[in-house]
Amino acid sequence: MPTNDTNGRRLAGKTALITGAARGLGRAIAQRFVDEGAQVIINDLNIAPAQATADSLGGQAVAGDVADSASVARMFEQVADMTERLDILVNNAGISGLEGDNNAQQRVLDNVERMQRAAAGEPPTGDTGTMELSDDDWHRMLGVHLNGTFFCCREALKLMNPQRSGNIINMGSIMGTFGRGGGTAYCAAKAGILGFTRSLAHEVVGYNIRVNAIAPGWIHTDMTDPLAPMHPMLKAATPMGRLGDADDIAWAAVYLASEEAKFMTGQTLSPNGGWYMSQ
Ligand SMILES: NC(=O)c1ccc[n+]([C@@H]2O[C@H](COP(=O)([O-])OP(=O)(O)OC[C@H]3O[C@@H](n4cnc5c(N)ncnc54)[C@H](O)[C@@H]3O)[C@@H](O)[C@H]2O)c1
Repeated sequence: MPTNDTNGRRLAGKTALITGAARGLGRAIAQRFVDEGAQVIINDLNIAPAQATADSLGGQAVAGDVADSASVARMFEQVADMTERLDILVNNAGISGLEGDNNAQQRVLDNVERMQRAAAGEPPTGDTGTMELSDDDWHRMLGVHLNGTFFCCREALKLMNPQRSGNIINMGSIMGTFGRGGGTAYCAAKAGILGFTRSLAHEVVGYNIRVNAIAPGWIHTDMTDPLAPMHPMLKAATPMGRLGDADDIAWAAVYLASEEAKFMTGQTLSPNGGWYMSQ
C-alpha cells in the first residue's frame, strides 16, 4: 500500500539512516528524504560535520566509521536509542582513495595518459596504477565500501528483521559495472557491493525487506571535483554531455525508498547520462 501522506510526500513517517551524509550525494539524498517527509539520521566519520548537516535539514546526527565493525555496532546502538524503528538504510559512505594526497590528481592524469598512449600502440612506459597500489590502500578501499556496507547491513537487519520490514539502498558505481583502468580497488569494491546487494536481496525478500543499489555515473561532488582536468573527457564520453548533479542520484534514492518501487529488489539503478547502458 502506498504510504504517501495527504501532501503526497512519499516517505512520510519513515526513518532513514544515511551514511557519509555530511556532504555530497549523501547530503542530497537526506535533503530529498526530508522533503518527502522522512526523519533522517545523518552519519559521518566526525560528529561536527554530521551535526551541521543534520541541523540544517532538521534531522539527527551520529558519528561512526563504517569500516570499523565495533564503531558501526556502537552507531546502531545510538540509532536504536534515537528511533523506535529503522525503515531505510542508505549505505553511501565512500572514498576515492585520493583524499589527502596532494599529488593524487596528477598521478591519476599521468595514469590516464599512459594508458591512452599504450592503447594507441605506443611502447608502454612506467608502472600501472595497480602496481602502485599499496596493501593499505587496497584494504582501506575495500574496508570503507565493501566491509562498511556489510557491517551496516548486518546491524540494520537486527532492527529491520523483527519489524518484518525495511529498505536498504547500497551505493555502487558505474565503476562496479564496467572496467576502468587505474581504479582496480574502487571497481572491485563497487562490484562487490552490487553482488552483495543481489545476494542479500534474495536472502531477506521473505522478511519484507528490499535491497537495491544505485550505480551513479560521474557526478559533481567534492569527491570528483579535484579531477576537473578530466571533466571535458568525461563529458565527451557521456551521451548527455554533462556530469550529473547530486540531485540526480537523490531522486533515484527517493524512488527506491518509496512504495513506488515495491516490486524492486536486488536491482541496480544507474543514473549515468547514458555513459553505460544495460538491460
Ligand atoms: N561523485 C561521484 O561521481 C560518484 C559516482 C559513483 C559513486 N559514488 C559513490 O557515492 C558515494 C558518495 O560519494 P560523494 O561523491 O558524495 O563523495 P564525498 O567525498 O563528497 O562524500 C563522502 C562522504 O563519506 C564520508 N565518509 C568517508 N569515509 C567514511 C567512513 N569510513 N565512515 C563514515 N563516513 C565516511 C566522508 O566524510 C564524506 O562526508 C560514495 O560511496 C562514492 O563512492 C560517487
